[in-house]
Amino acid sequence: MPITVVVGTQWGDEGKGKCVDVLAAKADAVVRFQGGNNAGHTLVVGGTKTVLHLIPSGALYDEVDCYLTRGVVIHPRTLLDEIRGLAECGISVSKRLFISQRAPLIMPWHLELDAAREGGEGAIGTTKRGIGPCYEQFAARQAIVAGDLLDPDRAVEKIERFYAERLAALKSLAREHGTDVDEYASVSQAVERFRRNYDDVYTEMVDYVCDVESILQRRIRNGDDLVLEGAQGTFLDVGMGTYPFVTSSHTTAAGACTGAGIAPRDLDSVVGICKAYTTRVGDGPMPTELDEDSAVGKHLREVGHEFGATTGRPRRCGWLDLNLLRRAVEINGCEKIVLTKLDVLSGLDELLVATDYDDDGQPIYETLPGWSQRITGVRHPSDLPSEARDYVQFIEDHIEALSCRIHQVSVGPDRDQIFSLRQET
Ligand code: IMP
Repeated sequence: MPITVVVGTQWGDEGKGKCVDVLAAKADAVVRFQGGNNAGHTLVVGGTKTVLHLIPSGALYDEVDCYLTRGVVIHPRTLLDEIRGLAECGISVSKRLFISQRAPLIMPWHLELDAAREGGEGAIGTTKRGIGPCYEQFAARQAIVAGDLLDPDRAVEKIERFYAERLAALKSLAREHGTDVDEYASVSQAVERFRRNYDDVYTEMVDYVCDVESILQRRIRNGDDLVLEGAQGTFLDVGMGTYPFVTSSHTTAAGACTGAGIAPRDLDSVVGICKAYTTRVGDGPMPTELDEDSAVGKHLREVGHEFGATTGRPRRCGWLDLNLLRRAVEINGCEKIVLTKLDVLSGLDELLVATDYDDDGQPIYETLPGWSQRITGVRHPSDLPSEARDYVQFIEDHIEALSCRIHQVSVGPDRDQIFSLRQET
């Protein structure tokens, strides 16, 4: 399949990074189409762990090109730290990492605004990476974009014209929260800070900036295999998620089109990644959430290492919610699901799965038998305990009517801990 979109079907952290890494083995390029360094993709190869926040998960293959499109918000220092970190592991992205000239840059005041808002009553539990404020400034047609780094005076002009509005918002929040109104840079200080950062950091990004969206069009016409990598998950989509407890980008398959400038008809397949249970970080509704001190809640968090890759926050854990999965399959048009972290369920006596909600919005559960065996070494469906096979089948039965099937099952973080359920590709 030349153009494959990979999206999360829950609230992020479904294991997309690993699945993209597996798909990247056969791809020409991996393309990140939204989000920023609020995401964290943990990749494990031969037991060695690499955490990426911005650089696409294809980076670990020398021959795979990596694109950050206009839908991604870029924090320059994080990006450069990641490039250096990979270089220290012997992985060079020079000449194969490309950044869209249209991509908005996360500026210091975006982080300050995010933190200031999260310090007040409107907090929603963001990652405080400045993501929302950066997308806001972009939607207001005032963003400093990566292309501005080719002409820093243009960026300075934008700061002189637009920063005052952000400063006023920062001061107003400081007054509201009783914090120091004078702690924020004035317009001239913001310009000075930009020039300093330009010399120290931003200038290093210049070589990577180009017209990514046009290059991608050429590659599509050329028949190249592209994997479009989503960050976060369907229910964090700014439009279709659990608003206002969402991120500020379009995390769904349609976001791949707007985020990468690709036409819907050019997408060949949408793969949804679904964790075998549910997690969520930050505030907002989560119908199947378990008490964090309950035995099962603790089991999922500890065995599943459910702590944020970006912020280290413990994730909220709960049973699998098929209402969400069905909705995600519809919204994204998923034909295939990769079911991840099935191994984490080993050792639970029984498994609850939400199949519907009652009139009060409370989940209606069905109970399935659990299994005790470790399954991290399983590489063929017939080697799964029958209860695990039944669990997988139960999920598939609930999405088949939407022309979607479970394609692969992942039973551990390593690249090779994944297998197909049937022969088809
Ligand atoms: P923001 O994206 O930092 O603005 O945060 C908005 C919401 O999205 C918060 O609930 C975050 O916890 C959540 N969020 C952002 N990125 C991720 C992610 O990669 N995984 C899970 N949740 C995320």
